Amino acid sequence: MKIFLDTANLESIKKFNDMGLLDGITTNPSLLSKEGGDPKNAMKEITKIIHGDVSLEVVSTEYSGMMEEGKRLRAYGENVVVKVPMTPDGLKACKSFSSQGIPVNVTLIFSANQALLAAKSGAKYVSPFIGRLDDIGQDGMNLIKEIKEIFSNYAFKTQILVASVRHPLHVIDAAKIGADVVTLPPDVLDKMLQHPLTKIGLDNFLADWEKLKQKNLDTKI
Ligand code: G3P
Repeated sequence: MKIFLDTANLESIKKFNDMGLLDGITTNPSLLSKEGGDPKNAMKEITKIIHGDVSLEVVSTEYSGMMEEGKRLRAYGENVVVKVPMTPDGLKACKSFSSQGIPVNVTLIFSANQALLAAKSGAKYVSPFIGRLDDIGQDGMNLIKEIKEIFSNYAFKTQILVASVRHPLHVIDAAKIGADVVTLPPDVLDKMLQHPLTKIGLDNFLADWEKLKQKNLDTKI
């Protein structure tokens, strides 16, 4: 399963990229707005740091505007995936971009039917928002299961990019189902790295090593 980071924060992107954990990045207008700086500079910088796919989202709601914006976003880097919303105009733009060989991520997917239609339009990725479904009392992970089954039935090449991930358990469940990608907020990836027994174990190792020092033994490795 590929791991993308769901952020426009350059510091977090560099931090996790240096650990070799990132296969790509997803951004959206809210994430860019949250950072507060020049959004275009941030998007350009991200495409330079990350070699994998970087989803950059259009903000036009009609077809011709999406096409113009998508082409400008693609000029930032060969690794740019144009992100369009799950609307009739979004699917029309998806079809046009994908027939030109430009990869598309269809976002704001909340049903299996929407995912099926986005795949038919040629999307490279569909982004079901599982956390937001959980928020309204629907089972977000069940949507991932349904999409996985449908895509397998018809051998769609479209990849399932699990979005709106809120905690590490979402990641385990998505991996068990066989989702292609999870896009993670930095705090979820941080939590996945940690386990209290790892910290306790390391503290104990270091305390025991300290005992050797107190016997005046050479402990420099
Ligand atoms: O990738 C989509 C994500 O940014 C939305 O997450 O937590 O706002 O539902 P959230």
